[in-house]
Amino acid sequence: MGPKSLSSSCSSFRSCGTYSACSRGKYSCMNRRGSAPGPMQRSVLQPARLRSVSVSASSRPAADEHSDHALDKYLPRWLQSVPRVRMRPASERPFQQLAELAVLNERLQGRRPWEARKKLEYFQKSRATWKAVCQQVLASDAIATLEKIEEAQRKVDEALSQEFRDGNSVTEMRMELQHLQEELELAHKTLHETQHLVNYHEKEVEKLQQEAESLRRLASIEIPEPSEPTLGRRDLADPARAEASASAPPRSTAEEPRRRQRGGAKDMLRSSLDIEEGLKDYWFPVEFSKNVTGDKLIPFEVFNEMYVLFRDETGAASCVLDECAHRGCPLSLGSVEDGRVQCPYHGWEYDGRGQCTKMPSTAFCKGIGVRALETVEKDGLVWVWAGSCEPFREIPDVGAPPAGHEVHSELVLEVPVEHGLLVENLLDLAHAPFTHTSTFARGWPVPDAVKFRMMSMLGGEWDPYPIEMKFEPPCITLSTIGLQQPGQLERGARAADCDKHLRQMHVCLPARNGHTRLLYRMSLDFMPFLKKLPFMDAVWREMANRVLGEDLVLVKGQQERLHRGGDTWGNPVSYDKLAVRYRRWRNSLSHGSEEERRAAAAQLSKGMTAGELFSIDEAEREVFVDRRGASR
Ligand code: FES
Ligand SMILES: [Fe+2]
Repeated sequence: MGPKSLSSSCSSFRSCGTYSACSRGKYSCMNRRGSAPGPMQRSVLQPARLRSVSVSASSRPAADEHSDHALDKYLPRWLQSVPRVRMRPASERPFQQLAELAVLNERLQGRRPWEARKKLEYFQKSRATWKAVCQQVLASDAIATLEKIEEAQRKVDEALSQEFRDGNSVTEMRMELQHLQEELELAHKTLHETQHLVNYHEKEVEKLQQEAESLRRLASIEIPEPSEPTLGRRDLADPARAEASASAPPRSTAEEPRRRQRGGAKDMLRSSLDIEEGLKDYWFPVEFSKNVTGDKLIPFEVFNEMYVLFRDETGAASCVLDECAHRGCPLSLGSVEDGRVQCPYHGWEYDGRGQCTKMPSTAFCKGIGVRALETVEKDGLVWVWAGSCEPFREIPDVGAPPAGHEVHSELVLEVPVEHGLLVENLLDLAHAPFTHTSTFARGWPVPDAVKFRMMSMLGGEWDPYPIEMKFEPPCITLSTIGLQQPGQLERGARAADCDKHLRQMHVCLPARNGHTRLLYRMSLDFMPFLKKLPFMDAVWREMANRVLGEDLVLVKGQQERLHRGGDTWGNPVSYDKLAVRYRRWRNSLSHGSEEERRAAAAQLSKGMTAGELFSIDEAEREVFVDRRGASR
């Protein structure tokens, strides 16, 4: 029978630490209680005669008095070569025992045990590595031979060297990254310095350009001729004279160069009766929410196109082109059926997105519809987007009256003047004591000076009137009038100092060339009971119409002059500055890219810096330049 080896996974061996030896040099193990071996163990032990030999430090094997002669002779010599085992903590015992077992197995296989022991002692020198080796051997349930242990040692060494290599490459990468970061920092620094230089040079160039522009303006100014005929307010107020002026032939072409030359001093300040393409890229309020009820169709015009408003099946305000896709019938003449607008001609129906959903009396054709504008409701107003680009995310916060105010009147009026002229009129208060002599400014004295103090890019307060005013792109004017007593304006005071306030919002929607859809909202922070009086709505409407009527005759006259090549910005003065700013913004819409226009719009909503507040206003500078030119 050939030599047998002891398995590293023998449970009895691990737990008792007791070796047994047979008379022919064969070994096996017994458990501590000396119980008979199991079937597996029996196959290993037979036919050996066993003697129990303890190898623990406290218990040494002793010669049996009844052993035979051979045993007496060889046992002491064998005992000399039996490994001495030290007591180890329970957790480390398997690692120590594995080495001993391997030596034993070497011996059992007839090889030199001391060579194996030497090697194993060498392996054990590195405790961490040795543990890993033992764990590998134990986990693989292999026979505990030196060969297996060496193989496990090789694997562990290999794994460790791989780890080392990986660790090295990570360190190298870290160093490289650090190096790159340093280089990047340096590049940033250089870029920053270059940027500073570029900014500095840009400012210098800008200054030079401004100087050049001023010189160019001075050079192009022509002294106005005193004999130039002008039309006064009274001419325009008199319908007969206005009519005569309107029917007068256009100015002679010989006069044109002089007028254009004078206008050249005010680049970007010219009234236009056209609608700029850039103006469309804004949200426009088109109706008061309260007027858009479930069963009503509200037609309106914007940018020369007719649309119709209604509430769809979800109750959302919707806006579609007021022209049936079938035969062009105005949809606003139809009705709203279950949240869809029905054409009165052949009954085609359209949903809130403009899709045709029904074609009675014929096979339904898919994909037919009318243009629908994106529509939202905010602050009691219905806003639409008629632009060609993506709608702005934000809708201006201008509709809601300030805290403490209650809305008393909301009116929608059709006004036969270009919306820009109406905006300029609303942004001008200096005309009140001359124009509104039958309404709110009756009896107002003409002040020595009317001033407008800018508090933001497009807003400020009037002096001597307690009125704050603001333009909100694209077509909204807001004014807050301070009152000491209802209906009584306190001259010389500021709106903020007054106890009572009347707030007005005018939305001047560009309906079509020469026509404006005006949305007027008035709110008060006093006398809330007025809202409950049934006739007040008619009173406010009458009042608004009368005030507007006083303005209209003049603004229509301006429009007439513009048609004839006139100039509504011949000589702006200090109190025109808010309207001048509006006109400059409006003129800018016909220039630049979409991004530039958006940037300009964002700039307008910002507050003014101290530098801007104290600098000479553009309009004032221009007037100054004009006067210098005129006085030469
Ligand atoms: S025109 Fe509208 S359904 Fe025919
Ligand atoms: Fe007015």
